[in-house]
Amino acid sequence: MKRIAVFASGNGSNFQAICDAAKEGRLDAEPVLVVCDKAGAFVLERAAAEGVDAFTFSAKDYPDKASYEQEILRRLNEYRVDFIILAGYMRLIGPTLIQPYAERIVNIHPSLLPAFPGKDAVGQSLQAGVKVTGLTIHYVDEGMDTGPILAQQAVPVLDGDTRDSLQERIQKKEHELYPEVLQQLFRKKQHTY
Ligand code: GRF
Repeated sequence: MKRIAVFASGNGSNFQAICDAAKEGRLDAEPVLVVCDKAGAFVLERAAAEGVDAFTFSAKDYPDKASYEQEILRRLNEYRVDFIILAGYMRLIGPTLIQPYAERIVNIHPSLLPAFPGKDAVGQSLQAGVKVTGLTIHYVDEGMDTGPILAQQAVPVLDGDTRDSLQERIQKKEHELYPEVLQQLFRKKQHTY
């Protein structure tokens, strides 16, 4: 059973999908900690409802990224976290976390990377007029949405799609695929840390 920390900044629907999969026995993982950089984010309500502890911080209370990531790392050690799962966490991860968690940080992104990295991938896809977009699950390195790809799934862009309608179609797929891909990954990485 892997002990996971989910990093999120907003709604937390992927956090919820991961919790549901774990409860239903589809994912051999225990979410032990939520890390959130936005006070008041809905993911914090979800964490409370699921009985998962949360560490909330504000980046501006720290002199730099290394300082708040050191604080996060202390919590990860305290909770004996095996894997970091990014799910709508709106900050780049720095070397303070990448070094100790090499190949143990995973992200989900709402486009077929390397197309449309960064913020508002769904808006970028609509703007570009592509007919197919999708989602990518990948290992995290220090770049913006650039680590090695673990899985991708295509999602069609339909005539008349808005950002909301396309995002909803992508997120439905995210909620299915993220727990599945994590389960495959955790099966491959059986040893404990
Ligand atoms: C997801 O669409 C994910 O691909 C992106 O941020 C969004 C987070 O949504 N990285 P939620 O907070 O899990 O609902």
